[in-house]
Amino acid sequence: MTGKHIILGVSGGIAAYKIATLVRLLIKAGTEVQVVMTPNAKEFITPLTLSTLSRKPVISEFFTRNTGEWHSHVDLGLWADVMVVAPATASTIGKMAHGIADNMLITTYLSAKCPVFVAPAMDLDMMAHPSTTANIALLRSYGCHIIEPATGELASHLVGKGRMEEPENIVKALQDFFATRADLAGKKVLITAGPTHEKIDPVRFIGNYSSGKMGYALAQEAADRGAQVTLVSGPVALSIKHPNVNVVNVESATEMLNACTEHFADSDIAIMCAAVADYAPEECAESKIKREKSKAPTLKLKKNPDIAATLGKNKKRGQILAGFALETDNEIVNATDKIRRKNLDFIVLNSLRDPGAGFRTDTNKITILDAIGKVYPYPLKPKSGVANDIINYIVNIRRIK
Ligand code: PMT
Repeated sequence: MTGKHIILGVSGGIAAYKIATLVRLLIKAGTEVQVVMTPNAKEFITPLTLSTLSRKPVISEFFTRNTGEWHSHVDLGLWADVMVVAPATASTIGKMAHGIADNMLITTYLSAKCPVFVAPAMDLDMMAHPSTTANIALLRSYGCHIIEPATGELASHLVGKGRMEEPENIVKALQDFFATRADLAGKKVLITAGPTHEKIDPVRFIGNYSSGKMGYALAQEAADRGAQVTLVSGPVALSIKHPNVNVVNVESATEMLNACTEHFADSDIAIMCAAVADYAPEECAESKIKREKSKAPTLKLKKNPDIAATLGKNKKRGQILAGFALETDNEIVNATDKIRRKNLDFIVLNSLRDPGAGFRTDTNKITILDAIGKVYPYPLKPKSGVANDIINYIVNIRRIK
């Protein structure tokens, strides 16, 4: 990590005492560290300690009162290769999630163009509260990397999840990140995400429960590792802000097929993560279908194009085409059959029988199956971790090919 610029945002929790060790380790690893503290953080550890260890004055106010010097959060955001918020209290996580820019740490976060790591630390009940869970999910959806807190004895003497990850492991997470960061540099990656909506009339459609979380996590991961990503997205409530990601919004399977066909020829890797509707209404009514007293209308369906299979037919030597399989029964047999029918290099199986896997959840549990019958199971993880596993798998097969 030699020469990397790190903004270390420290918020006011008891785990702030560990930040002295974190700063020491980061400096030892050859990085430049700029500490930004919230006003409350200074109650837990002195700015003097952290400025001495980081060899830079700590920033905690928008300007220095005696000199009138203005601290530009925008310049700081541009300077950094990475921002780490540790410890991240429930309050700071909430402010980051909702853009409440009332201190230097949050304004810096909002201006930062670099990847952001967040190491939550709080008591177990605060950690488990639905508002904290929802705010962390929001941060993930903005592309933040969450360094999960550990389980153990907390400052309250209660035992549970909420201990900030140890400084050594935070440094390890950053080292891993920088080590893999450039391994897709120069590669073009096409990713589909979300559901498709097939119009019945101007107010109704056929759709499914896909939230886009898995596909967006893949786009974030591939872009973080240097790829130029085209993300063809069905209608979802997510957004992604990354200089390497070009989002193409589509609604129906036909629109998704057209966008994918346009970009596939030029792609090194394509990952079909979208839950594409297999059928669409034969016709879309021009006006809203009225409720009839006597009988319910019958919907005539037609088959949608199979996007993955279409790309599979046109796959050139050296291109990698991956699919997903969402199954409820006979998982391995059905997924294996899809590899063959769609001419995939591998398929990522997720089963709705596994708690925490599949649609809408922040986690997923996958098994990768390849074209020669090898099976690689993975444990349940946040979708960001799953995306990391899938991209690692691709990088490895590219090395072998
Ligand atoms: O979006 P999330 O809420 O995070 O949920 C993630 C997910 C469950 C949607 C994702 O992990 C997933 O499993 N996506 C694929 C779902 C699916 O449609 O599976 P399938 O078994 O029906 O399709 C197999 C493959 O063919 C998929 O790669 C699919 O994109 C592709 N396909 C399917 C139908 C079709 N007409 N065209 C296709 O290209």
